[in-house]
Amino acid sequence: MKTHSVLFYTAVFVLTNLPLDAIQRSPLYIPEDATLNFTGLATKYGMFVQEHDVITEDGYILKLFHVPGDKDKTVLLMHGILDSADTFIIRGRRSLLAALASAGYDVWIGNYRGTTYSRRHKRLNPDTDNSFWDYSFHEIGAYDLPAVIDYILRENGVKQLSAIGHSQGNMIFYVLGSVRPEYNDKIKLLIALGPVCYLNLDNFQFPVTTVVETGPAVNLVLQALNQEEVLGETSFLMYLRNTVCTQRLLGYKLCAEGIFFQLAGEDAAEFEPDVFYTLIGHYPTGTSRKNVLHLIQIASDKQFMQFDYGPLKNLKRYNSVSPAVYDLRRVTMKVALLVGRNDKLTPLDNVDLLRKQLPNVVRYHIMENPKFNHIDHVWGKNMDKYLFPHVMNLLGKYS
Ligand SMILES: *[C@@H]1O[C@H](CO)[C@@H](O)[C@H](O)[C@H]1NC(C)=O
Repeated sequence: MKTHSVLFYTAVFVLTNLPLDAIQRSPLYIPEDATLNFTGLATKYGMFVQEHDVITEDGYILKLFHVPGDKDKTVLLMHGILDSADTFIIRGRRSLLAALASAGYDVWIGNYRGTTYSRRHKRLNPDTDNSFWDYSFHEIGAYDLPAVIDYILRENGVKQLSAIGHSQGNMIFYVLGSVRPEYNDKIKLLIALGPVCYLNLDNFQFPVTTVVETGPAVNLVLQALNQEEVLGETSFLMYLRNTVCTQRLLGYKLCAEGIFFQLAGEDAAEFEPDVFYTLIGHYPTGTSRKNVLHLIQIASDKQFMQFDYGPLKNLKRYNSVSPAVYDLRRVTMKVALLVGRNDKLTPLDNVDLLRKQLPNVVRYHIMENPKFNHIDHVWGKNMDKYLFPHVMNLLGKYS
């Protein structure tokens, strides 16, 4: 075992053996914005929000938020893994949503299946039916996105929208464009913040590598425990989040510096304690074990491919022993890729693999700030200076 892995497991051991009694007696720091939901936050910061329910063809009921504006400037925002619509309003008046709304855009904010707002289904109960959790980003791209996009186009009476996706929130558009290519024409432009598609393990560094390498073992444990939902409200890790990450001082050290900066890249100037303690009330939300496993498969197999069930089940399901690779040449929508140099989850070599195969990349931009990391795209303090000008320019030019 490498030294790095030893350190990692030691950290996990320490974290999971913290004296919770003592911790629970010390003061928690929970700002008001940590307790408000999307509608509460958007209303507090001066926006008018409508809530919509969208039903997918496989029965999931998705919450879609709408901040009305000019219908010719319709934009859909999609969050990343373990996240929700809240991510786009965490910074209050300095959030992407606020910037778009005040520039007159008609903004729709999605929540994909399994997250707090979209943990509902017409027939399946997420608490008791394991099959509710039988999905990965494939189904999010192939079912959630089409349902949400068609709903918005119908409501607004327009033929096209622009989209902004963060992290797995842009990955799902590559699935959509390749498996349901008729949707390419419904998208004027996709702005990919922190583009995620290829996750080749070779291009990652510690500790992201360790997370991927230990993934299959963790998956077996979860399977044995019959845990199909990862990081659900009542899980042990969420209990740790609520008791440890909310500790004044200690919470920031352990969870912001110890987890976020390790996995997403360090940038303390952009992610100060106040916003961290707000975020902890909103992040993470749940996803499926299968979604996480699918990401790990992509990383270890170095292919952007459908879920691998193993040879026999693949044969039954796909009529082939190995799962189909997503054909990125079919993703003909215009794509702008915005990348942080310090983003540990999107090493430039992996983004290049995506960029070279997409037929219609209109912009490939490495953010000027050398410390720009994965979370600065949504939570950064100075997004209005570093990021929004690029977003506004792109939207203005291609919509
Ligand atoms: C947000 O919170 C308000 C007030 O607690 C509640 O009425 C509303 O239903 C919540 N909305 C969602 C989508 O959870």
